[in-house]
Amino acid sequence: MSKKFFIKTFGCQMNFNDSERIRGILRTLGYEPTDRWEEADLILLNTCTIREKPDQKVLTHLGEYKKIKEKNPNALIAVSGCLAQRAGWELVQKAPVIDIMFSSFNMHQLPELINQAQAGYKAIAILETPPEDEDKVWEYPVERDNPYCAYVTIIKGCDKDCTYCVVPRTRGRERSRPMESILEEVKRLVDDGVREIHLLGQNVTAWGKDLPKPIPFSELLYEVSKIEGVERIRFTTGHPIDLTDDIIEAMATIPQVCDALHLPFQAGSNRILELMDRKYTKEFYLELTQKLKEKVKGIALSTDIIVGFPTETEEDFEHTLDVVRKVRFEQIFSFKFSPRPGTPAKDMEPQVPDDVKIERMKRLLDLQKEISSELAQRYLKGTWEVLIEEKRGDDIYVGRTTTNKWATVKAKEDIIGKLVRVKVYKATPFNLDCELVEVVR
Ligand code: 5AD
Ligand code: SF4
Repeated sequence: MSKKFFIKTFGCQMNFNDSERIRGILRTLGYEPTDRWEEADLILLNTCTIREKPDQKVLTHLGEYKKIKEKNPNALIAVSGCLAQRAGWELVQKAPVIDIMFSSFNMHQLPELINQAQAGYKAIAILETPPEDEDKVWEYPVERDNPYCAYVTIIKGCDKDCTYCVVPRTRGRERSRPMESILEEVKRLVDDGVREIHLLGQNVTAWGKDLPKPIPFSELLYEVSKIEGVERIRFTTGHPIDLTDDIIEAMATIPQVCDALHLPFQAGSNRILELMDRKYTKEFYLELTQKLKEKVKGIALSTDIIVGFPTETEEDFEHTLDVVRKVRFEQIFSFKFSPRPGTPAKDMEPQVPDDVKIERMKRLLDLQKEISSELAQRYLKGTWEVLIEEKRGDDIYVGRTTTNKWATVKAKEDIIGKLVRVKVYKATPFNLDCELVEVVR
């Protein structure tokens, strides 16, 4: 009987894509996936450490999963990802049940690590910097749940050094994946039936700068769009400072590039932005989003916001609310500032008390609720294109619009995997109830 693996993933889309690659690696070793950790021979936690909460979750899960050893003493427990990179040794001490550990730098070493662990050794491989042969990881297949939309990692790491962020310490400096390697994977994916390509990186807009012969990110967008079968292109996440005019031009010109962009602004006050070392001002961000709205008609913007960064006053926070009011995002992701080990912001004084963070967060979410509800009404006009990703029940399908909004579509015919045109009859911030108008292709 073949061995089984169970993976639990925390964190961002990058981490999910890493897990898809780890699944591919495990498949090549003859492992089969299972949805039940109780029956696994290998349990892997792919961790995140962006805020304190995900750190704690990992320990809770390890406490649960260690019971596997009572039933199956040969079962292996592995931990990978950003928390492993940041605090691997500390974690092994707290949870000696861990057999294998690696980070996002060295997923490709997993086969060796499994061998070591099976031979009875603790297989811990936390590297200070990415290994020379890091690009080997692209040779492994990815195993995806979604047959129509696929993530493609194009750049790893981040050079921005925002003072609150642990990522440069967990994912290292920016390393762009070579263009040929990306295009090859995209071709393989469309041959496999994928229609939407989602380019991923901590800072995708910086892609290409560090290649032996630098290439602008906009050129990658054109090259991906030329591949027959690519119907949609998305990319996340970009830093506002790298979102140059040529990228905006490419978004406006390439039909397949979706009318949606996630562009974190983090805070509205220039004083806080400076303390965060974000390298732009509130005015720069407002002008940039204005330009995006003019060039890419109907674009849906979303963003990340940190509430209660050290020293944030009521007046500073008002600037954050002001940006939200002016830009009118379709969606915001807001986080209470969480001090991370090894980051400059952790030691900035004074820290904002938790009750103030909670109160500001509530005001921010109340404001956004109003805006999202108002913006949702625009979907009631005209028709929209939806890529159907899933069947949810009899004659009920779900997919997303180009603006990244979830749509539930009633249809008698089988429309799974199809690009369809719909009319929206009910619009809320989280869902569009639609009727099928026609199947586009
Ligand atoms: N505290 C709170 N939120 C953070 N983020 C990153 N670091 C922190 C932190 N220390 C948020 C940012 C980022 C998102 C992925 O997580 O908004 O864009
Ligand atoms: Fe979490 Fe950041 Fe690592 Fe993603 S890159 S898993 S968000 S710490």
